[in-house]
Amino acid sequence: MKLTPQIIAPFVVALALAACGADSGQAGDPALGEELYSSKLDPESELFSCAECHSLDGSASRGPTFQGIGERASQRVAGMSAEEYLRESIVDPQAYIVEGFFFRMPAVFGPLLTDEDINNLIAFMLAQ
Ligand code: HEC
Repeated sequence: MKLTPQIIAPFVVALALAACGADSGQAGDPALGEELYSSKLDPESELFSCAECHSLDGSASRGPTFQGIGERASQRVAGMSAEEYLRESIVDPQAYIVEGFFFRMPAVFGPLLTDEDINNLIAFMLAQ
């Protein structure tokens, strides 16, 4: 079989799509992220929402406020971008414990969230 552009084109498109899908840095939607932030992620359990532990107005809660988190996130861990740090904070919260916090963030949210959910939450936090 001769490989004409008509035959090759669909493979090129599929490859390009696969490459995009593998990119965890896809821009999320901050409005959808805000919805997730204030909803109970597992309505069947006693799990808290992000909002119950993280304020947006600078006030203290169980966890650090999200006010200014967009700027702070890039300075938390040397060599980690804001986006990488925020992603790790959700899927592996014990990897870096914010100083002064006795209470540890539970590592339960990663499995409840899709990649898209996490991207939306990150976009929301970056805007704070
Ligand atoms: C039960 C309380 C609780 C819930 C619910 C919670 N967190 Fe946290 N979170 C914490 C605590 C406490 C810390 C600080 C201690 C630590 O680093 O583990 C923290 C730290 C963080 C940090 C790092 C903040 C910084 O200033 O560096 C991010 C980002 C974060 N949480 C995101 C989230 C997101 C997104 C959700 C919802 C999916 C969420 N958290 C739900 C308690 C919580």
